[in-house]
Amino acid sequence: MAGHYPFVHVDDVPPLDMDPRQGWSISDFRVIMDGRNGCSSTIFRGLFMPGAIHKKHRHDNCDEMYYVVRGHGLAGAGPDRVELFAGHYHYVPRGVEHWLINLSKTEPIEVYGIYDRAPSVEATGYVYTGDVTEADIRSPRTPSRERRHYVVHDDLVPIYKTSREKGWTQDYFNQPISRIHGATTTWMQGYFGPGTVHQKHAHENCEEVCYILKGHGLAGVGKHRVELHAGHFHYIRPGEEHWLVNLSKTDVLVAPGWYIGAGDLDETGYRHFGPVTAEDLGERTG
Ligand SMILES: [Fe+2]
Repeated sequence: MAGHYPFVHVDDVPPLDMDPRQGWSISDFRVIMDGRNGCSSTIFRGLFMPGAIHKKHRHDNCDEMYYVVRGHGLAGAGPDRVELFAGHYHYVPRGVEHWLINLSKTEPIEVYGIYDRAPSVEATGYVYTGDVTEADIRSPRTPSRERRHYVVHDDLVPIYKTSREKGWTQDYFNQPISRIHGATTTWMQGYFGPGTVHQKHAHENCEEVCYILKGHGLAGVGKHRVELHAGHFHYIRPGEEHWLVNLSKTDVLVAPGWYIGAGDLDETGYRHFGPVTAEDLGERTG
């Protein structure tokens, strides 16, 4: 797993054997990246088949954020009960009790998430706090009234103003979770129309993990040139030059990710180096 430019496909990672007596009744839980890759944080994928559940627990050492790729679930966070669908982000700060259950009888829920600056599941300070009861499942749905956790849907996230002069040629960029929610890591997303590019740049102040939700891209990271598809995650060290190109002539590339330890793009120490060249586009290293 070691290597200074880790890129990983979720399908190539083995599921972990999590303990159901500790509340992990998730059908398939995978750690995609963590301290073993040199990453400060743990990036995971959870797949919940009908009836699957992650019972009540909290993480005393880290914030958690997750995104619903598909499915329909019920989440608890503190006293709140929130239904989640594809496109929802859930930000759960450290110490807040939470849980997630699949409400569908036929479809799975799939989530991607991060244990922010916990380099392993063990390091999150996991505390199992009990079963989700029938009363929990039936209780009225409430918004995130505690304002200690946030549920944000993709559709409602405003576009973040980026500068074409500084290399942002993708159609748009936004930040579903950022310091406006009290987070100290940003969950961002780039939407790349056919042929668009985020030019060569670096973030001096933060690590970045970027993944492909949809589409087919070419990433440059340092000297590496790698084609990425949906389900690929890659890791970029602070200060390391990187760029991303949508290789498709017809389809959009959706590339979300995290600025780990920066609460907004303006905290990342963004530096623009210049355009991606025809030579860059012709190279492949892995
Ligand atoms: Fe970046």
